[in-house]
Amino acid sequence: MSFKDKIIKEKLPRHIAIIMDGNGRWARKHGKDRIAGHQQGVDVVRTITEVSAKLGIKYLTLYAFSTENWNRPRFEVEALMDLFVETIKMELKTLNKNNIRLKAIGDLESLPRENYLRLKETLDATASNDRMTLTLALSYSSRWEILNAVKKIISDFDSQQLKAENITETVFSNYLTTAGMPDPELLIRTSGEMRISNFMIWQIAYTELYFTPKLWPDFTEEDLYEAIVNYQSRERRFGLTSEQIKS
Ligand code: IPE
Ligand code: IPE
Ligand code: MG
Repeated sequence: MSFKDKIIKEKLPRHIAIIMDGNGRWARKHGKDRIAGHQQGVDVVRTITEVSAKLGIKYLTLYAFSTENWNRPRFEVEALMDLFVETIKMELKTLNKNNIRLKAIGDLESLPRENYLRLKETLDATASNDRMTLTLALSYSSRWEILNAVKKIISDFDSQQLKAENITETVFSNYLTTAGMPDPELLIRTSGEMRISNFMIWQIAYTELYFTPKLWPDFTEEDLYEAIVNYQSRERRFGLTSEQIKS
């Protein structure tokens, strides 16, 4: 029996976030260079995006490139940037066909100009799609995002558009790049690493974490279903007691 058949349709997470890790190790395992691992990873992005949309997930957020990843060897950074532009260009038709909106979060202006413009075109061209929002975290880090929010808050405070006593969790959330999106209910990280690596620290305060040893290029449709079934088997208590949740 496939894990797909065990998914409870009424209990689907609205928002799944994924730290796609392990491309480099996958490449090494197959005697290939790291770039080949990233290319293989793109195919998995395609599959998981399509499967998530079909399943009825409303938000899928993928960590594609962190602020810290800029410090990788220049060759790898450039290859990744090229891969992003090529993929985004190629996928525009499919995104529109499947009614998927592409969003991007991160310090997008730090991307090479050409990439930024290409990305912007695709974001605009899919802006009215509403079946699922696919968000790519590109040149993203949570600490960058939080500092950025603080700077904007201070600027709004200076211009008297915001009062200290009005800064609630909801107001603060709206200063983050994920404004308007629900927090992820499920965060998946592949490759066996048990860390968050500066991803959505504010947003995952109550997210269910799922770690799998599978390397990202080996992650399949069935692995996604398994993660969802595992998520659905958990009791989310939000500080309450189990008895409170059940009654
Ligand atoms: C994830 O795979 C992709 C990016 C961070 C861009 P890695 O490239 O980190 O793969 P490993 O961790 O070296 O195996
Ligand atoms: C996290 O992966 C970032 C992305 C998946 C884009 P890394 O491979 O960069 O994470 P660390 O450095 O091992 O924590
Ligand atoms: Mg890694």
